[in-house]
Amino acid sequence: MKAYYLIKNGSSDTAFELRDLKLNDPNDNEVMIETEVFGLNFADVMARLGYYKACPPLPTVIGYDVAGKIIKKGKNVTDLEIGQRVTALTRFGGYATHVNTNHHGVVPINDEIDAATATALATQYSTAYYAAEFSMSLQKGEHVLIQAAAGGVGTALIQLAKRRGCIVYGTAGSEEKLEYLKKQGVDYPINYLKHDFYEYIKKQRGEKSIDAVFDSIGGNYVKKGLKLLAPGGRLAMYGAAQIAGNSDKKSLYRQLKTLFSFGKYRPTQFFAQSQSLIGVNMLQIGDHKPNILKKCMTDVVKLYEKNEINPVVSKNFNANELAEAHNYLQKRKSTGKLAVKW
Ligand SMILES: NC(=O)c1ccc[n+]([C@@H]2O[C@H](COP(=O)([O-])OP(=O)(O)OC[C@H]3O[C@@H](n4cnc5c(N)ncnc54)[C@H](OP(=O)(O)O)[C@@H]3O)[C@@H](O)[C@H]2O)c1
Repeated sequence: MKAYYLIKNGSSDTAFELRDLKLNDPNDNEVMIETEVFGLNFADVMARLGYYKACPPLPTVIGYDVAGKIIKKGKNVTDLEIGQRVTALTRFGGYATHVNTNHHGVVPINDEIDAATATALATQYSTAYYAAEFSMSLQKGEHVLIQAAAGGVGTALIQLAKRRGCIVYGTAGSEEKLEYLKKQGVDYPINYLKHDFYEYIKKQRGEKSIDAVFDSIGGNYVKKGLKLLAPGGRLAMYGAAQIAGNSDKKSLYRQLKTLFSFGKYRPTQFFAQSQSLIGVNMLQIGDHKPNILKKCMTDVVKLYEKNEINPVVSKNFNANELAEAHNYLQKRKSTGKLAVKW
């Protein structure tokens, strides 16, 4: 058994080391998975840079999703069988040939689905599904703004919002990504590094015109997003990518700047406009509402099988290219999902 350990915060070139992995048998509620592929998530970049509070102390194995085969299971696991091919949301530990994880984050997949695509369903689609269906309850005809829409969660949100008959505004940071958004069916693609998304939407539709905002950037993006909300509108925040900046060095200044640029909100302002500010954190959902995590994962696998969603894997890497893969994600080159094959 092998794993890529995160041994040092900072540059991807020096952050990871391939080591032998000592893994105990799964506990009563866990299965052990022999992995074909593990997925990358932006939270992994945040963990590498030292920004991710939930990350265990180093050296540790990070990684949120894998696809592979169950080779052992605990005595309380009755919904899964040894030998089944599965996709799984792991609570760290994914960058490994083998991982133990709670059965609530594990769903069977058929032999036809490509393993990298399956990893996109585990984290990014289940997050998007929980946010769009449970937290935001998107309705037909609603105007929806998705920040960083060309990314993994962003792509999933576009597809789930279009499935519900929403009008989608999607932001991204390059002209190539804008082309990608058009292909995904985004009605109003906006290059937010060239144009102020708030001014753009205000000019198109007026200030209080958006029913749902999905924000993974944080700070002033949330502040401006709230100003765009119509009465009855909701804003879901599920990330703060701007803290990462474009450097390998952790910056307290950037953390504080992001924190202060959120602005100040009063409960009465939400009450007066019947609006909501909602947080989404799938680790908390997995820990405290495991049946909901299971339902989200099962539902997205079914939607995939019915061709109602279509994850995009923009690049597959080999395990010995992990540093390159991390850099690719951090430097904003990816669209959709990135996966790493053993
Ligand atoms: N709360 C949860 O449970 C949960 C679960 C999964 C993911 N997330 C969050 O959701 C977001 C999307 O995750 P993902 O894995 O699908 O990643 P991703 O969207 O594929 O990649 C991140 C994207 O964020 C944009 N971005 C904006 N500012 C950036 C910066 N300073 N540095 C790098 N990228 C920046 C880039 O798109 P542009 O080039 O278009 O700007 C980049 O491609 C992340 O913030 C992640 O932490 C949260």
